[in-house]
Parts: sequence; C-alpha cells; structure tokens
Amino acid sequence: MMKILVTGGLGFIGSHTCVELLNANYEVVIIDNLSNSSIDVLEKLEEITSKRPKFYEIDACNKEKVSVVFKENKIDAVIHFAGYKAVGESVSEPLKYYRNNLDSTLTLLEVMKEYSCHNFVFSSSATVYGTPKELPIKEDFPLSTTNPYGTTKLMIERILQDVSKADKDLSIIVLRYFNPIGAHPSGLIGENPNGIPNNLMPYIVRVADKELPTLSVFGNDYNTHDGTGVRDYIHVVDLAKGHLKALEKVVNFKGIEYYNLGTGKGYSVLDLVNTFEKVNNVKVPYKIVDRRPGDIDACYADPTKAYEKLGFKAEYGIEDMCRDSYNYILKNKESQK
Ligand code: UD1
Repeated sequence: MMKILVTGGLGFIGSHTCVELLNANYEVVIIDNLSNSSIDVLEKLEEITSKRPKFYEIDACNKEKVSVVFKENKIDAVIHFAGYKAVGESVSEPLKYYRNNLDSTLTLLEVMKEYSCHNFVFSSSATVYGTPKELPIKEDFPLSTTNPYGTTKLMIERILQDVSKADKDLSIIVLRYFNPIGAHPSGLIGENPNGIPNNLMPYIVRVADKELPTLSVFGNDYNTHDGTGVRDYIHVVDLAKGHLKALEKVVNFKGIEYYNLGTGKGYSVLDLVNTFEKVNNVKVPYKIVDRRPGDIDACYADPTKAYEKLGFKAEYGIEDMCRDSYNYILKNKESQK
C-alpha cells in the first residue's frame, strides 16, 4: 500500500484527511510541529480508525529532519497541509508567513527530489481568486490576492508550476479549498482555535456555548440575498475525501492540475446562523456591525472539474456541518471536565 507523508497531519483538515487515509488502508506518516495543533489528536486518530499513524514532531522547514523522515520511510506521495493560515496575523507579520509557508514547501520539494518522490498534493485556497469577476468560480479564472496569507498560497502555486515545468517526472495537484467547517461525526476531532476565533463557524459555536456573548455579523449591505456575505461552506470530511480522490489521480498523470473543492452552493452568514440555531436547538445572538476590510460579497465554487476529473462530489449538507461543528465542541468540553 502507498505510504503518504502528511505535513500538518494533526491540524484541522490534516487530521480529517489522516482518518480517511487510514480507513482506506494507506500507510500514513505525519509530521507536525504542534504550533497550531495538539498531540492529543494522535490518540483520537487511533480511537477513530484503530490504527496508529507514524508521527514525527518536526518542522517541515527543517531540511535535515525532513530528510531523516524520507530516509526512514519510503514515501510515495506528500500531502502538504502545514502552514500558517490567519489572514489578520499575516498582515501584521508578513515575514513570518512568507518564511514559514514558502520555506516548508521548498524544503519538501528539495527533499522529495533527493529521494525520487514524485507525487505532491498541495493545500491551496479559494483566496487565490481575489475578488472573482463572476460566480461560480472556475479554476481558470484570473488569480490575485488581498493579504500576505493569500499571497503565500499564490506564490507557492507559481513555484509549483515552475518546478513542474522543469521536472517532467513530477505529478502535482493543487486543491483550492472553499470554506471548510464541520467536524468528524464522532466528535473526537474538529476545529478549536486558540483565543478569539477569526472565522465564522468557530465564532458561532463559542457564542452558542455562551463562551462569547454575541456574534458580530460583518455587514448586511452586500450584494447578496439577505445582504450578508455568502460563502461555499464544505464539510471537512468531504474535503478530506477530496484528498483521496486527488491521490488516486496524482499517481496517474504527470504535470500539474488545479481543482476547486467546494459544494457549489453559497450560504450567507444569516443562513448559517439560522440553520445552526435550528439543528442544534440553541440561540446564537448576533448584531450587525461594519464590514470587515478585505471581505467580498460572495464566493462559491464551480465544482464541475473536480467531479468530472477526480470523481469528487461533496455529500454533506449545511445541516450536517452545523450539527457536527457543535457536537465537537460539546464533546470536547465533556472530555476536559
Ligand atoms: C477566510 C480568509 C480566507 C481563508 C479562510 C480560511 C479573509 C478575507 N479570507 O475566508 O483567505 O482561506 O478564511 O477558512 O479573511 N463573518 C462574520 N463574523 C465573524 C466572522 C466572519 O460576519 O465573526 C463573515 C465574513 O464577513 C464572511 C463569512 O462570515 O462573509 C465567512 O468568514 P470567514 O469564516 O472568516 O471566512 P472567509 O473570510 O470567507
């Protein structure tokens, strides 16, 4: 069976992808520096799958240590999740973002070359579409960014394009994620950011749980059905499954391909709040405040390419996403008592 190196494998999307990989009998080697994840996730992976992935607590920027992993394991493919991802922080600390996100990718590509590993799947983001010219968003739309975090993703895409041109043995798939939310239905793994959350769903669950008083809805004068921002929310388990489809494909072609991973459906902030209240039978008090700088009216994928070429289709609906996001927080609290 193929051996997959998963960088950032204990993070939100990485851990859910490890579950799907282990369930599908891939051999999994995780590297993670625990900068935004917890070692407890390793136990949870075992609890869910009854398998224990190999784990190295190392930084993907550390070339010597990454080389040791390749030396000790015959890696067939790399899925590269590790990276900083907070938009606001990237604006105040751009060097930290460029250094870390670019360096880790360059290091992996160099070590892969040294060990003749040719298959690479990269976590990009719909943020590379900037302000889209029309909706839904297709993969061949023009690319631009509005913050350093997004620029790291776009710069890495460009690097991968050049590397692919130069090395005809390489197979690269770039996955552009829309807005991942939800959690594993077991409630054992999910998203639990430190401090006050920046993203909508982690904020909603804290308000529902009375850890934070009110949700601030950033603007209700957008050009959308109810004036609040519209996004393409995708269940993290669906997103994880998309990586397995990408792996099946990556070993069967040479070059570089780009895919949107979204549902193709757009929901507004208030749609999400209302659905969350309904399925979880809780209140999410909110107030309308000013727009958040840099936000766009609406963003949702045309998921056709991933469906036609990868056979990927998101199965979970917005109710499932709301239920599983909350279930994770409730379970997580219980286990901390
Ligand atoms: C953001 C990033 C994107 C990144 C993604 C990771 C920006 C501009 N974009 O996407 O690059 O890939 O996170 O998941 O930051 N909202 C509120 N109140 C809140 C939080 C959010 O009303 O407290 C609204 C936002 O205005 C937006 C929607 O909820 O309309 C979703 O916001 P968020 O979850 O932060 O994701 P994005 O901004 O779409």
